[in-house]
Amino acid sequence: MLYRPFRNDDPPALVEVWNEALSGRGSYPLRLAGLIDRWILSKPYFDRNGLILAVDPDTKKVAGFALAGFGPNEERTALDPTGGVICCVIVRPEYRKRGIGRELVKRAEVYLRERGSEVIVFGAQRPFNPFLFGLYGGANSPGILESEPDADAFLNKVGYEKGEAHVTFQRRLDTPIHVADARFAGLRRRYDIQLIRPTVSSSWWEECIWGTLEPTEFRIVDKMTGQPAGRAVHWDLEGFSWKWNMPSAGLFDVEIRAHLRKQGLAKFLLASILKLLQDQFFAMAELQVWADDPAGVGICKSLGFEQVDTGYRYRAIAEPSDPPAS
Ligand SMILES: CC(C)(COP(=O)(O)OP(=O)(O)OC[C@H]1O[C@@H](n2cnc3c(N)ncnc32)[C@H](O)[C@@H]1OP(=O)(O)O)[C@@H](O)C(=O)NCCC(=O)NCCS
Repeated sequence: MLYRPFRNDDPPALVEVWNEALSGRGSYPLRLAGLIDRWILSKPYFDRNGLILAVDPDTKKVAGFALAGFGPNEERTALDPTGGVICCVIVRPEYRKRGIGRELVKRAEVYLRERGSEVIVFGAQRPFNPFLFGLYGGANSPGILESEPDADAFLNKVGYEKGEAHVTFQRRLDTPIHVADARFAGLRRRYDIQLIRPTVSSSWWEECIWGTLEPTEFRIVDKMTGQPAGRAVHWDLEGFSWKWNMPSAGLFDVEIRAHLRKQGLAKFLLASILKLLQDQFFAMAELQVWADDPAGVGICKSLGFEQVDTGYRYRAIAEPSDPPAS
């Protein structure tokens, strides 16, 4: 097998590999090579050396590829090369179990280490998601989904184990939305739900991740003061809707100002958004929350969302430490 960096005429072959190799619920068949441009090549930090192709030297067919990049710094103003991310390793079914996936992981690790990565994770999970938002994972970047049939066994073999978990919740919108909560009458008197389009990205990193979308921001605003109390962002899940066979809406960045929490505002905001999405004929809404965020999980459940998947950021399996000296 020949391994080489990306070249400008590779997108059609990458699309073929993607469509042949990925069968889980978290990805959709790419109809156009332009989607590779939009979600991968157009990023200002795209580096052809981080997109590594395995090419069959006899047939010249692309057998698979690995895509690696870096997470952001704390201020989200630039890349932090010390945090490397292998976003994916994908091998066509006919080339599997020949060591190609393992070799692609190794080469992606070398690429990241040579550029300064001290920690390498596997799976694009927010905010360590330089690539794949929009192509894989639904409403946000959940890491590698549990529903991906081959991923977990393969990753364990090549030295990674499950780390941070991100839960994917979905709610059908083709049934009535009745959310009973005694606090809602008071909240409705005090707050308005406003729609802002397109929303303004709050950082360079966000602009890089979803700058080509035109997401809509819903704000919950105090009627008296005009001050926003919180927000949530919505985007049309486009390709995923084709895969799931229903018009689907993604929600992310649900946030209530710290001093206004625990008063039912997030639940009220989300319940209002679900009704507005229903009016726009969306049949399903998806929201992803951290598994260890009881507030996020609780709100999803109280609004009738159901857990459909879990994504993981994989980390290197720790070397066994030396036994203590006796
Ligand atoms: C997962 C995937 C990349 C593996 O590619 P591959 O070229 O077949 O992997 P390798 O041949 O290098 O296998 C490396 C090791 O993982 C094991 N492995 C690979 N796929 C496996 C599976 N489905 N179940 C159990 N073990 C598996 C291999 O047996 C091998 O172990 P060994 O060295 O002890 O023999 C490929 O199946 C694929 O593209 N799947 C869809 C995309 C995906 O899930 N990617 C991973 C997350 S992005």
